[in-house]
Amino acid sequence: MANSNAVLHLKAMMMELALDRPLDMHLHLREGAMLELVAPLSAAQLAGAVIMPNLVPPIDTPARLAQYRAAVAAAAAPYAFTPYHTLFFRAYDEATLNAVRDQIIGIKLYPEGVTTNSAGGVRNLDEAEQTLALMEQLGIPLLVHGESHGFVLDREAEFLPVYRRLATRFPGLTIVMEHITTAAAVALLDELPNLFATVTLHHLLITLDDLAGGLLQPHLFCKPIAKRPGDRQALLGAALRPHPKLMLGSDSAPHPIDAKEAAGCAAGVFSAPVLLPMLAELFERHDALDRLQAFVSDHARRIYAIDPPPRRVMLIREAWRVPDRYGDVVPLAAGQQLMWSLAPFV
Ligand code: DOR
Ligand code: ZN
Repeated sequence: MANSNAVLHLKAMMMELALDRPLDMHLHLREGAMLELVAPLSAAQLAGAVIMPNLVPPIDTPARLAQYRAAVAAAAAPYAFTPYHTLFFRAYDEATLNAVRDQIIGIKLYPEGVTTNSAGGVRNLDEAEQTLALMEQLGIPLLVHGESHGFVLDREAEFLPVYRRLATRFPGLTIVMEHITTAAAVALLDELPNLFATVTLHHLLITLDDLAGGLLQPHLFCKPIAKRPGDRQALLGAALRPHPKLMLGSDSAPHPIDAKEAAGCAAGVFSAPVLLPMLAELFERHDALDRLQAFVSDHARRIYAIDPPPRRVMLIREAWRVPDRYGDVVPLAAGQQLMWSLAPFV
């Protein structure tokens, strides 16, 4: 499934990679000063992104959505960047869904209390059925943080039967398993036609060992937690193929350093500044650079039937050192040398 849109120029010693409309299908931009800090870092390298609604209070009314849309648009200017907004799942009536359907790409469901700012999530999925039926009818995709409240390594696996049930009960509903971390979730993609998935950069790179096998690495702590080598291998295999139902979704989730290097470490990996450079390095290492385009854009555009305005993002094979901090946030690969750089924005 090599894609011809990813143009690889080989020029003597120099190498460039052009990506057509790269997209991040799962991104946390926050609000206020944090939004101002992180939005330009994503907007500089992406044609668009799916913006998560787990703010305080959550994005769960048309008025709150309108306010957040304006804030994100202002923070991402002057880049040609399309934010695809989401609502935080709760019971919605048809009038509300009709009012917002053109302004959102989907609705994000969090089980109650499974992760950052999910206290208002769903306690009983049976009570969600009416809204899910409306979403199916109106063609609004469902994005899911699929974790149970069980043992931390088993939470995703324990949630898989819920995906099976939802996908079977609502066959017309597009369901996206967000940030999958297990080989079992990859396998489920081939079982249910209306089930899709995002995978993060960091889950393609790390296992639980990188987080907790030596000195604890708080900046690699996230939900769902990184799993076993076999899981990472399955995720990587699916991304490099790339599996036609799999999309890049970074789950870049910035927290201030005080909240990460703390006795109670907040969950989230801040990968936004290094997203495309590290992906290029990873795909190159596996001789799969020609497949990056499909993974970072083509599949998402097909699955969600979106058509962002033209934008070509250039990467150049030129080493750079990742800063230790962006403001008060520590990025993935802080201080490390990367082989691919973003070409200056033109
Ligand atoms: O690690 C995570 N951080 N996982 C999530 O699901 C939420 C996110 C955040 O908002 O910080
Ligand atoms: Zn997330």
